[in-house]
Amino acid sequence: MSTKGEDVFRKIVAHCKEYGFIFQSSEIYDGLSAVYDYGQTGSELKKNIMDYWWKSMVQYHENIVGIDSAIFMHPTVWKASGHVDAFNDPLIDNKDSKKRYRADVLIEEYVAKIEDKIEKEVEKAASRFGDKFDRNMFIETNPRVVENKQKIEQIMSRFVKSLEANDLKDVKALIEELGIVCPMSGSRNWTDVRQFNLMFSTQIGSLSEDASLVYLRPETAQGIFVNYLNVQKTGRMKLPFGIAQIGKAFRNEIIARQFIFRMREFEQMEMQFFVKPGEEKHWYEYWKEHRMKWHTALGIPASKYRFHDHDKLAHYANAAADIEFEFPFGFKELEGIHSRTDFDLASHQKYSGKKLQFFDPVTNESYVPYVVETSIGLDRMFLAIISNSYNEETLEDGSERVVMNIPPALAPIKIAVLPLVKKDGLNDKAREIFDYLKYDFMCQYDEKDAIGRRYRRQDAIGTPYCITIDYDTMQDNTVTIRERDSMQQDRIPIEKISEVVAKRIDIRKR
Ligand code: GAP
Repeated sequence: MSTKGEDVFRKIVAHCKEYGFIFQSSEIYDGLSAVYDYGQTGSELKKNIMDYWWKSMVQYHENIVGIDSAIFMHPTVWKASGHVDAFNDPLIDNKDSKKRYRADVLIEEYVAKIEDKIEKEVEKAASRFGDKFDRNMFIETNPRVVENKQKIEQIMSRFVKSLEANDLKDVKALIEELGIVCPMSGSRNWTDVRQFNLMFSTQIGSLSEDASLVYLRPETAQGIFVNYLNVQKTGRMKLPFGIAQIGKAFRNEIIARQFIFRMREFEQMEMQFFVKPGEEKHWYEYWKEHRMKWHTALGIPASKYRFHDHDKLAHYANAAADIEFEFPFGFKELEGIHSRTDFDLASHQKYSGKKLQFFDPVTNESYVPYVVETSIGLDRMFLAIISNSYNEETLEDGSERVVMNIPPALAPIKIAVLPLVKKDGLNDKAREIFDYLKYDFMCQYDEKDAIGRRYRRQDAIGTPYCITIDYDTMQDNTVTIRERDSMQQDRIPIEKISEVVAKRIDIRKR
């Protein structure tokens, strides 16, 4: 992460705590690593992101329905899904620092440094040649760039080959040959690489022999697959159709850092779209485009997002891409769109012995549907929103403010109701307005401190509108409405407040 990125990220984390967005879990006991709680402001924002996703997937699509499946599932589910055997991270320890790393991350970081070198070379040349600079030509012909690109290719192809063959000795050999050192101790004193399963387990039943091992689900998707037939039959669903779900997932992440980017307990919003075999590529493209639109409809610049198409596909996928977001620590995965073939349903069919098929009344045949999945981390989406919203501004009068430019539709509090002073009946009038607005909008009433300070507090939690009740209000039933981003203030009648705010927070009006 660049120093500037680190600095911004540190400020965002501190801001999240100061304004009740996110707290470290069990903080009074010094916290629990990679587990977080959402506070009074954060839980509202999280709920709004959830609603935005649920509406766009379930409410706006006639052929998508939602479910809410249990976290505990039959242990064989995880055997059939491949998680028991293959949901692993390759880990390596440094014997001097006693720090544990993911071997793939060490190698990827090494490769990222070579990529940085290439980029610097390109930037240098671009500034030397000015308008005449041909980036592609330079990358293809400059000897240093070509050499570095070949180096990356060699490293990655060897690494992928070793991982696929589960040749962990060669992964260690590669780390040693590349001279990768521990960032803490600076030493190359590594242990062997070994696989570590990421699922948490516990036991159901008493402590006696009849207790059986169960896992805390590492993804919500399997709860959808095992309910495919239930939903298809009881909902009389025809292909193509989707099942959506929002829920908790758990992974024993070893390298859990970067705040809520990688957590041990997190939430996913997943949708499995069941299609006729052969039509999956069409739907894969449809969902890639549709999901990108969902992101950009929030008004966050399109340049903050990019697709990363996977070159190396999981054995069950025939296409996969990530939507990456530019976090303060660089572009990273936010959402995955995967064409998963019939792998999951066919595997559950095999392990359960139950037919998980669709009878096609047009062709008179039965088959296992193919699946296109969209999977986004709710917490990661939260981090994307707050990272993009955090802004420090110097105002015309030289004063400073921190404002969260949260997309108004997602803002935790939509309207702050503020009496100019808490006397002469202004506070009673403000309460009356608050009581009227609260049925339609999440509102906050605040009468403490000077009005300027109250505006700053609302800016800091991203409230799009502040309504101020002053002495004129008592005469003519008008209020001042202040818009967060422009800080522009207008005078409007009380009965217009709902209309003005509703228009601005409606995502369809964007
Ligand atoms: N069912 C597919 C699946 O689970 P994944 O790429 O492992 O795919 C999907 O996860 C999304 O879940 C990721 O794009 C990310 O947004 C989120 N996610 C995964 N692991 C996470 C973690 N440890 N903490 C927070 N979010 C996570």
